[in-house]
Amino acid sequence: MKFHIALIPGDGIGPEIVTEAKKVLDRVAEKYEHVFTYESLLMGGCSIDVYGESLTDETLERAKKSDAVLLGAVGGNVGNSRWYDIEPSKRPEAGLLKIRKGLELFANIRPAYLYEELKAACPLKEEIADQGFDMVIMRELTGGLYFGTHKTEEIDGVSKATDVLTYDEKEIRRIAVKAFEIARKRRSSVISVDKANVLDASRLWRKVVNEVAADYPDVTLSHMLVDNCAMQLVKDPAQFDVILTENMFGDILSDEASMVTGSIGMLSSASLGAGKLGLYEPSHGSAPDIAGQNVANPIATILSAAMLLRYSFDLDEEAAAVEAAVKQVLAEGYRTTDIMSEGCQLVGTKEMGDLITARI
Ligand code: IPM
Ligand code: MG
Repeated sequence: MKFHIALIPGDGIGPEIVTEAKKVLDRVAEKYEHVFTYESLLMGGCSIDVYGESLTDETLERAKKSDAVLLGAVGGNVGNSRWYDIEPSKRPEAGLLKIRKGLELFANIRPAYLYEELKAACPLKEEIADQGFDMVIMRELTGGLYFGTHKTEEIDGVSKATDVLTYDEKEIRRIAVKAFEIARKRRSSVISVDKANVLDASRLWRKVVNEVAADYPDVTLSHMLVDNCAMQLVKDPAQFDVILTENMFGDILSDEASMVTGSIGMLSSASLGAGKLGLYEPSHGSAPDIAGQNVANPIATILSAAMLLRYSFDLDEEAAAVEAAVKQVLAEGYRTTDIMSEGCQLVGTKEMGDLITARI
């Protein structure tokens, strides 16, 4: 089959990890006789340096024309990068929000899985880690607080900032449907997370999710308040299969879930819309402090490429081959610094990419 992939290397470690993921995709194309063509697009700080904005309309249009987008990471150090002090709508992160909205990618899938081989890296108590866990966070990605109006004003000499949180029932329904569909392919359980004891948006969320659940009698649904969920993720992560939640809660909880795996460098993500076009990126950031040193872990991006094969191209066998190659390399004891443990073999970004590629 023939597919066109837009690569957005971005900033920091982005270019290095995308290079390794592309190597893996090329190997998949060769082995399974597909043709993948690529184009590289600028987004983030690197685009600000050239065009004065994080994502130009023209770049967005080119991304729209591709079959899938693979992204590294965008942004510099929060607080002290040269891109931090510019107007919010022009910062590196603005490009990320713009591409999600522009491609109408309302569903963000973030798996958090404890690899048997990496149990030692799990920061939880041994008796909790021993049970293992395998969950998926389904985060609403184009609504809520991050896309409401933002304003800062001065009223009677007092500065006041406002961010508006809105959801309509359609936005809730379409993400809920995705969550139930994914649950059906997993362990058939959805825990919907909200703050319905305080927020109207959460009450509507709960009501609509209950309505959608009626169409999925084979999937178990329960509701959990977000503060309790934050606690349960460290107390008993094994209870979660699919967590369905709104934009900001999903942003926060997915960082927490990835941290309890002990290795944020391992976690992939997919952002999907109504069609096949998706955006795939590691769950971690651009790590500017280690950029260009051949030490970043490329596995999250490589696993994101596997998700790309599965969700945008329907190439399930190829995706599974990439995932199996990652597991094999870990089982053989190869580690990048972030997941290194005693008795293992330390390798760099490039070597890790080569090892995985060679096992496909
Ligand atoms: C993420 C990031 C982004 C988000 C930022 C960089 C805008 O934290 O992908 O989780 O909040 O969505
Ligand atoms: Mg985040």
